[in-house]
Amino acid sequence: MDFRPEHKDSFELILFDMNVAKDLLEVFLTAGVAQEVELAEVRRHSGVQYQVNGASISAHMVGRLIDDARASQRNSYAPYSHFNVGAAILAENSVGERLIFAGCNIENAAYGSTICAERTAAFKAVSEGFRKFLAYAVVGGFDAHTSKTLRLGAQKAYITPCGSCRQVTNEFEANPCVVIMAKETGKVYMTTLKYLLPGGFGPRALGVDASTYHREKKVG
Ligand code: THU
Repeated sequence: MDFRPEHKDSFELILFDMNVAKDLLEVFLTAGVAQEVELAEVRRHSGVQYQVNGASISAHMVGRLIDDARASQRNSYAPYSHFNVGAAILAENSVGERLIFAGCNIENAAYGSTICAERTAAFKAVSEGFRKFLAYAVVGGFDAHTSKTLRLGAQKAYITPCGSCRQVTNEFEANPCVVIMAKETGKVYMTTLKYLLPGGFGPRALGVDASTYHREKKVG
């Protein structure tokens, strides 16, 4: 698909061109709503601030989120799909503290009870009171029980958050929330959740701000 400057201002045009494009991530790249960088570059220039669709994130944080996602991927429990995923979310609590919560996919013999890495990390964050998601990284790949062809194939692709994980993280997105995807080969792809879930249904549609909800009624 050709680069079109008009994409920057028009979701409609992006969606239209998506229909004719073969690869959604390629569309985002050419539309200027995503960036592709080398992990080696990210590490070399850790002081750099990346600007992604109005969001700002330091190279240092990008590297940390990828490292934490990879560390959690090692705990992935995936004896059925043999696909190991790791995620790490930078989240903020109601007093402005920021922490990284990491998670892996946890499969289940009753397949439908499986949970994705992103939601494991998201639920860890929320259950600790960190409800504002500023950024998250996702990594994935097949385990050693699979064929080399399968493993190499997956290494060439970015692992994108599934629809359910986009919806769950949308509930708590800081807006903008940077989404980082990292290939095992060292390439890093950055965009924002808005562009992965355009027009998503969220708490604001119901007049709710997820970051301020509290079970107690406010006094006064
Ligand atoms: N998976 C994730 O953890 N995150 C995603 O966004 C995509 C899929 C997991 C679920 C399942 O354990 C395995 O990858 C294969 O679908």
